[in-house]
Amino acid sequence: MDTHIYLDYNATTPLRPEIRAAMIDSFDLYGNASSMHASGRAARVRVEDSRRALAELIGAKPGEIIFTSGGSESNNTVFKTMGSLMTRGERNEIITTAIEHPCVLNSAENLRSLGYTVSFLPVDGDGKLDMGALKKALSKKTLLVSVMMANNEIGTVQDIPAIASLAKAAGSLVHTDAVQAVGKIPVDVNALGVDYLTMSCHKIYGPKGIGALYVRKGSPLFPLIHGGHQEDGFRAGTYNNQGILGFGAAARLAGESLAEYALEMGRLRTRLRDGLLAAVPRIKVNGHPRDVLPNTLNVSFPGAEGEAILLSLDLAGIEVSTGSACASGSLEPSHVLLAIGAGPELAHGSIRFSLGWGITHEAIDYVIKTLPPIIARLRAMSTLT
Ligand SMILES: Cc1ncc(COP(=O)(O)O)c(C=O)c1O
Repeated sequence: MDTHIYLDYNATTPLRPEIRAAMIDSFDLYGNASSMHASGRAARVRVEDSRRALAELIGAKPGEIIFTSGGSESNNTVFKTMGSLMTRGERNEIITTAIEHPCVLNSAENLRSLGYTVSFLPVDGDGKLDMGALKKALSKKTLLVSVMMANNEIGTVQDIPAIASLAKAAGSLVHTDAVQAVGKIPVDVNALGVDYLTMSCHKIYGPKGIGALYVRKGSPLFPLIHGGHQEDGFRAGTYNNQGILGFGAAARLAGESLAEYALEMGRLRTRLRDGLLAAVPRIKVNGHPRDVLPNTLNVSFPGAEGEAILLSLDLAGIEVSTGSACASGSLEPSHVLLAIGAGPELAHGSIRFSLGWGITHEAIDYVIKTLPPIIARLRAMSTLT
């Protein structure tokens, strides 16, 4: 039997059967959810069901959820909104972190290129935001503080309530990219105290190309995509019935299994971490020791190249990633690992194992057995060269 062990759930996830079934059903739901006739209304009812499911998952009101094409679009919508606000108001500075996903980093860079002040704050060795730097950076000019809730590469979870309360005290708006957090750990927009929160469906066993943005009632927003009146004019385009229904099913399922997810992923992660620490000398586990996603384990293997490890594991039927999927292929060391002070050798030799439903303890044991000879061979080659 061919081995196939997928350990790249932070890049994307397979459809869970219940979500696939909901989507297959939805293919008959062809009505345009904005149409007034029966077919349109039938689609609309299901779209609104999904919106409610998503709102419930994050403690929001359904009217505060806007469907988008994914996390990238949601993040861009927030940053483009800030760009428009900054041309009009007193506040013209943005604060974010050095470890954000490229869709936030590049949205922030775009604002910087237009002449606005953007601070990319440092994080500590575990990937936690430097709160002293945040306090120093905040001022009467700060329009937005945007800090991701959980990091896609190392899994570190930020203290968003503390960050939001500092930002609010300075009169700033607050955004969090919660793409990697929603469905994996509890997320409640009121406990977090944020104005905007980004979500994506394909990280929680649903389809790709569908996401959402939570916008607290009263917080400013301008559409990124202009057109019809869908989503109260905030996001034009005919409703993506299939994607939205898949997102609703994914949200319901994630909400129901949150506790079980934490338990099961925690078990798998501990087994993998402890197994690797025992089997491979001189390795370093990256990320916060406690405030970390239950499914994410990032490990540096000094003396071995991340890409070479990835390809060797792939040949053995094990799929992992180095850095983020968006950065892979660039051969640049991960900006996240550099930001936690890993240095080029540790940053180049890091592997992200991201776990999910369906992974067995036997699969984890196979990884623990397969990896040591690969690392030994690559280290021997690197000493030779
Ligand atoms: C933290 C984070 N934000 C945003 C995104 C982008 O989401 P999407 O693929 O839905 O555009 C990702 C996906 O990798 C992510 O991990």
